[in-house]
Amino acid sequence: MKGTYALAVVSERSPEMLVVAKNASPLVLGLGERANFVASDVPAILAHTRDVIFLEEGDFAVITKKGIELTDRAGKKLDRKVRRIDWTPTMAEKNGHKHFMHKEIHEQARALTDTIRGRASVEEGDVYLDGCHLDAKTVAGLNKIHVVACGTSWHASLTGKLMIETLARIPVEVDLASEFRYREPLVDARTLCIAVSQSGETADTLGSFREAKSRGARGLAICNVVGSAIAREADDVLYTHAGPEIGVASTKAFTTQLAAFFLLAVRLGRLRGTLDVPTARKHLEHLRELPSLVEKTLKHEEEIKQAAYKFSAARDLLFLGRGPQYPVALEGALKLKEISYIHAEGYAAGEMKHGPIALIDENMPVMVLAPRDSASEAGVNYEKILGNIQEVKARGGRVIAIHSDDDKMVPKIVECAIAIPQTNALLLPIISVIPTQLFSYHVADHRGTDVDQPRNLAKSVTVE
Ligand code: G6P
Repeated sequence: MKGTYALAVVSERSPEMLVVAKNASPLVLGLGERANFVASDVPAILAHTRDVIFLEEGDFAVITKKGIELTDRAGKKLDRKVRRIDWTPTMAEKNGHKHFMHKEIHEQARALTDTIRGRASVEEGDVYLDGCHLDAKTVAGLNKIHVVACGTSWHASLTGKLMIETLARIPVEVDLASEFRYREPLVDARTLCIAVSQSGETADTLGSFREAKSRGARGLAICNVVGSAIAREADDVLYTHAGPEIGVASTKAFTTQLAAFFLLAVRLGRLRGTLDVPTARKHLEHLRELPSLVEKTLKHEEEIKQAAYKFSAARDLLFLGRGPQYPVALEGALKLKEISYIHAEGYAAGEMKHGPIALIDENMPVMVLAPRDSASEAGVNYEKILGNIQEVKARGGRVIAIHSDDDKMVPKIVECAIAIPQTNALLLPIISVIPTQLFSYHVADHRGTDVDQPRNLAKSVTVE
């Protein structure tokens, strides 16, 4: 057979036996007590076993309840490593929440704690990344970083670019994986290619990672699923430790990817000497405070829900942000369209005058990301976004704003105001995205859509 496949075949004559084979598509075998399992993803078998084998390209397996026999394409016996997954079955349950997405939004403080744990040393002003073997010499030899990803992971990468360029001063390009693969990318041995993927199985991301590596790039993976294809093919792996994400619309995977990028940016900054110890300490202190700020933000759920109900009949919605808040605007719009089927667009607020302003009227609500960051109390982005709010209002537009909790100005001029705590500008997206997740969730729930499994979408897209 040629091409991409993951097959499980059973014959009428031997109903107690499964024969499986895979190439490119994911396939995981679960080893149970008196039963063995086959699935495309770990959460599907978590309730039965945590001991798994990830099949490699071209592997065959014959599975009975007594055991598993593995061979390669040529029929030669194989011995693949059994991995113990540290996710528990309850992690793949709703635990009283109406939907997995809601549970996962509320898990973000815990998930971020797990991403950061054991990696950030505020005292030393440095970061220790298990699984990443980048040293000062390797990093000095890099002339650029190229990030490839899809969907929400691509949005996280856009913020990751800002983090790395600001803290480590290395040029970073971010590409949609599906575009990167087919455009003769300028990548060589002086490039670090970072693949960002929750599942670690997205076909386009895996394909572009392979493409970059075949051109000599070093490959670093930011993944959630341990042992996934992208992680296996990487030279360095930075796991996000978000725990299983079941809702198709990504939430905790996004915020933990941002935290992972921040850790990496600080580490690269230290290795390149662009970040001194006192500054790194300050950044890591902010990072350490994040989980409690997330908890604080989640407490505003009721008012966010009211705003969501108020705007749930909208046909279109525009999200605006500047600087680090621009990728949040893109992510907010993606979340809303994915689960509520409302047409939404994310725009860099400064670009509004080049097109979207023509759409503004009372039927086009605009969500504006207008928080201040603690570093620049009234920074340039904040001043400019106030101007954008006025522009929308002047055209009869209705504004929902996400603003800093000590800001008296924004709540006075908008129809709906959602307060969030402050932190430094690069980490603020982790906080400001939360109201957009809850907003989309409540709009979708109110409209009665299938929140966890929206139509036409898949959690892992293992086809091109
Ligand atoms: C699918 C999912 C998205 C996800 C994207 C990339 O489209 O529905 O939520 O962001 O794939 O997935 P990955 O696993 O590579 O992050």
